[in-house]
Parts: sequence; structure tokens; C-alpha cells
Amino acid sequence: MKIFIDTANIAQIRDAADMGIIDGVTTNPTLVARENKPFLELIKEICETVDGPISVEAVSQHCDEIVKEAKQLAKINKNVVVKVPLVKEGLKAVRILNKDKILTNVTLCFSVPQALLAAKAGATYVSPFIGRLDDIGHVGMDLIRDIRKVYDNYGIRTQIIVASIRNPLHVIEAAKAGADCATIPYDVLMNLMKHPLTDIGVERFLNDWKKVPKPHGRGR
Ligand code: G3P
Repeated sequence: MKIFIDTANIAQIRDAADMGIIDGVTTNPTLVARENKPFLELIKEICETVDGPISVEAVSQHCDEIVKEAKQLAKINKNVVVKVPLVKEGLKAVRILNKDKILTNVTLCFSVPQALLAAKAGATYVSPFIGRLDDIGHVGMDLIRDIRKVYDNYGIRTQIIVASIRNPLHVIEAAKAGADCATIPYDVLMNLMKHPLTDIGVERFLNDWKKVPKPHGRGR
């Protein structure tokens, strides 16, 4: 499963990239707004930090405008994937962008038929938002399992990005469900690495190392 980081914060992206654990980045208008930086400058900086798919959302409402905006976004960097909302005008735009070989991430997906239509329109990626489904009392991960099954039934190549991830269990379940990608907020990503027995083990080894006699009082 590919791991994307779901943030527009450069420090977080750089930290995760330095650890070698991320394959790409996803952003959205909410995440971009938090950074309080000029939009183009920010996206360029993200693209310079990670050499992988960088999802950037188009905010236009009508097909022609979405296509125009997507083409401008795609010019920023070869890795830019244009996020398009799962609405009628968005799907029309995805069809055109697919023909023009511009990568798309169809976002705000909350149902299997929506995911099927995204694939039919030619989406490179589809982003089902599982956390937001959990928030309203649905089992978000069921959607991932169902989309996986439907896509596999027909050999559909649109990649499933599990989005709106809230905790490590979501990541484990996404991988078990066979999702192609999971886009994970920085805090959750860091929590994936942590285990109390690791911390206890490191502390114990360091304490025991102090007891080992060393030549000239230091080093090995
Ligand atoms: O980037 C899309 C998605 O991951 C947003 O998640 O937490 O706002 O529901 P959230």
C-alpha cells in the first residue's frame, strides 16, 4: 500500500520524507488554508520536497473551468494530480483530463456507485472519505472493502486512496482491505511508528550500555 501524507505543512512533509516512509502528498483547500502561504509557492515547495504524486484540488465549479484550472495546476510539476470533486461537472472534467493524460484524484467519494462512476469517467485515483462516514455512524471501512471488490470484479485500474483517516486502526484495516493507497495525517503517521515496548527496550539497552567497560572511558 502506498502511503501519502495528508497535509500541506512543509515541516511535516519534510520530516516524513526524511524518514523514507511517504510515497506522495495529498492536500485540499482546508489544509492549504492552514499554512497561510501563497498557494503556488506552497505547491511548488511541496513538489520539490517529495518526488511522488502530489494531489492539489481544483476549486472551479463548471467543467470548462475545472479543465482550465487543472491544466494550470498540472503545469506546476509533472507529479501534480488534480483533485476534482465527485459531482456531475467534476466527472465531465475528469473525462476530458483523462484524454489529455492529466492525472486526477476524484475526491469526496462516499458510496460505491460514486466510486464506480469516477472510474468510468477515467479517474486515476478515487478518494473515499472513511473518517467522515464513521463520524455520522457508518462503517467507513466497509466502503473501501466494497469498492475494492467492485473494482476487482471488473479489472478497474483506478487506484483507491483511503482518505479522512483518523487513527492507526484505519491504516491497518485499509491495508487488509487491499487499498492501493492511504493518505494519512502527520500525527497518525507518527503514531504508526510508536510502541511502548520499543521505547522501554531502547531505554533499557542504553542504560545497560552505560555499564559496559569502555577503553579510555568512552566509545566502543
Ligand atoms: O484530504 C482529504 C481527507 O483526507 C480529509 O480528511 O479529516 O478532513 O475528513 P478529514
